Amino acid sequence: MIESSAIEIIENADLQPFTTMAVPGRAEYFCRVDNQQQLLQALDYARDRQLQVTALGGGSNLLLAADIVGLVVQLNLIGIEASEFAPGQFHVSFAAGENWHQAVEHCLQQSWYGLENLSLIPGNMGAAPIQNIGAYGVELCDLFVSLEAIEISSGKLVVMDKQACQFAYRDSIFKQAYKGRYLITQVTLLLSSVAQVNIQYPALASALEGTEPSPEQVSAAVCRIRREKLPDPQQIPNAGSFFKNPVIGAELLQSLLETNAAMPYFKQPNDRAKVPAAWLIDQCGFRGLRSGKVGVHQHQALVLVNFGGTGAEILQLAEQIQLAVQERFAIALEIEPQIYGLPS
Ligand code: EPU
Repeated sequence: MIESSAIEIIENADLQPFTTMAVPGRAEYFCRVDNQQQLLQALDYARDRQLQVTALGGGSNLLLAADIVGLVVQLNLIGIEASEFAPGQFHVSFAAGENWHQAVEHCLQQSWYGLENLSLIPGNMGAAPIQNIGAYGVELCDLFVSLEAIEISSGKLVVMDKQACQFAYRDSIFKQAYKGRYLITQVTLLLSSVAQVNIQYPALASALEGTEPSPEQVSAAVCRIRREKLPDPQQIPNAGSFFKNPVIGAELLQSLLETNAAMPYFKQPNDRAKVPAAWLIDQCGFRGLRSGKVGVHQHQALVLVNFGGTGAEILQLAEQIQLAVQERFAIALEIEPQIYGLPS
């Protein structure tokens, strides 16, 4: 048996450096776990003291609205393992603490293809299934095989397949019925040594027009596009898209197109359409706006940026945006990142 060193519990810990939005916030108790045994120790600690447990990964898809009561567990489990289950087909298992983009690069180096469109997404592997991360025409669920998670209340390990995770656009069971119930420890994806590039997404198609790109070239193009549009959290703190792209019914779409002929939309099943929230927010005049110490990114209206403000200020600006879009387009924008620190 491998001996595992004891966990260190820190009281009243500063969480600001652990989130890409970098607003002030503290955890009543905090600990970092490097392996499954430490994770179980942390859960025992919390159970003995009846502390609520909050998971922290790369901190790139959350907003601290207030200090967090209970124990924040930073999941730092590391490791990548692959098995070839059919010629050229690999099941690759990633521990939750693996950095997403480094994992994508590692897979490209091994010629395990499929993740190239998802290059440069911030955050860690363990958080990827929670919001079913997606970009440039590919979603995590397209490659997903299974995950392992630990139930917080019992410490029991569960394995969940794709169906059990109930993936949808920016959504999974972990944001719904299982919210706050499990800590994801490992994610297994299906990758292939046979390249099958997908460059349907408009921005990617125009960047690579007239070429027959390799997966490495697709990855490089995605990185270029993202760097042009999205602020680097190291320079301008942000949590990526702050709202989901709304999906609306045919009737509302028709009436909006009568007065907004240029409104982009993407057809969805059941006669519905997805409208870019960035376009709606942009039309309401928010792109590049600065309100005190928070603002809206100048190249992508979907991204709220922090210049030294608080979570409450970010939420106030988000509300202002939601009101304006509701009033002008009769569309309710839903916040995408997880909001931490509010009473559940
Ligand atoms: N647009 C505007 N104003 C802007 C930005 C964009 O009008 O300020 C318009 C564009 O002209 C385009 C449309 O909005 O017609 C869509 O823009 P874009 O291609 O940049 O994608 P998005 O729908 O805004 C989504 C994801 C991104 C992901 C990109 C690429 C959501 C909530 N966001 O953004 O995800 O990178 O597609 O696939 O689905 C993230 O989650 O953090 C994220 C960046």
